[in-house]
Amino acid sequence: MANVELFTLNNGIKMPAIGYGTWRAPDEEIERALNLALEAGYRHIDCAPVYLNEKVIGKVLKEWIDAGKVKREDLFITTKLPHHGNNAESVEKNLKKSLSDLSLTYIDLYLIHVPFGFSETADGPMREPNGDIVLDLSTDHVAIWKKFEEFVGAGLIKSIGVSNFNKRQLQRILDNATIKPVSLQIELHVYFQQNELVDFCKANNIVVTAYSPLGSKGIANLYKQSGKELDIPDLLDIPEVKSIATRLGKTPAQILLKWIVKRGVAAIPKSTNANRLQQNLSIFDFDLTAGDMETMKGLNRDIRIVTFDFFQGIQKHPEFPFK
Ligand code: A2P
Repeated sequence: MANVELFTLNNGIKMPAIGYGTWRAPDEEIERALNLALEAGYRHIDCAPVYLNEKVIGKVLKEWIDAGKVKREDLFITTKLPHHGNNAESVEKNLKKSLSDLSLTYIDLYLIHVPFGFSETADGPMREPNGDIVLDLSTDHVAIWKKFEEFVGAGLIKSIGVSNFNKRQLQRILDNATIKPVSLQIELHVYFQQNELVDFCKANNIVVTAYSPLGSKGIANLYKQSGKELDIPDLLDIPEVKSIATRLGKTPAQILLKWIVKRGVAAIPKSTNANRLQQNLSIFDFDLTAGDMETMKGLNRDIRIVTFDFFQGIQKHPEFPFK
């Protein structure tokens, strides 16, 4: 089983530097793949109610814990307050739903998933006749944060953080927090290096967690559903990355992930393939040289892939983070 580096959060809790991403994995796929991931040694699992698979993840976790194959305290489970419940009044309901669906008595890391909020119907986000999402304009991050702090006090959450926040939004949390955020989860990969936010988080002792660390090929389907074609760059095909991989006898994915973790950033790659999810965790038995790190740094193209365009009209929300 892979030997995985642990990052120490600002509250002393340890988080495995590589986690298992579960976005866009339907039930049958995630049940099989999560079993493979746990067998491979993943102990950090990144979940969210909006991925619509927490119940089956909970089923697998319960089976592993009940069978004595893993101890609860050896798992690090992240989940998030959903877009449609992004207000202080909805925190308790959503947190308890995730706890119940995941079959857990506490969450290791609870994040505000996005800085904007949606109005909701039973069938998902409410939409205007033109297809725009109906926005909840009352989103107040500090009020939500105070609720998060309450549930840390109540023992239902160990650590709290945010996702998809920009620097201004994160600074506002820091200015008003009793409990500091431990982590900021954002899109980060070699073509979108997020240097300013990473430096800001380092200065504030916040661990950055990289989603779509391999460039999110899978997101193209999501854009197709909203009628857009997206030309996504193939990070696994970058000549400089392939050349380092060949020299070290590793795969391009392993180089991309190693470069992230060596920056002190955690990563949550998703794969449902046994071999690939195993290789994504096996990045702690080799190293990149300072020259390799420089080469990778020089590849930045500031290409954001996850722009949230698939939520039609979302840019009009006052807390849309990517202006
Ligand atoms: P697969 O599940 O078949 O391995 P995301 O869109 O969430 O960033 O998903 C990552 C994409 O990268 C998935 O399509 C996944 O496909 C693929 N992937 C994950 N790990 C590897 C790897 N080590 N090598 C090549 N492709 C990978």
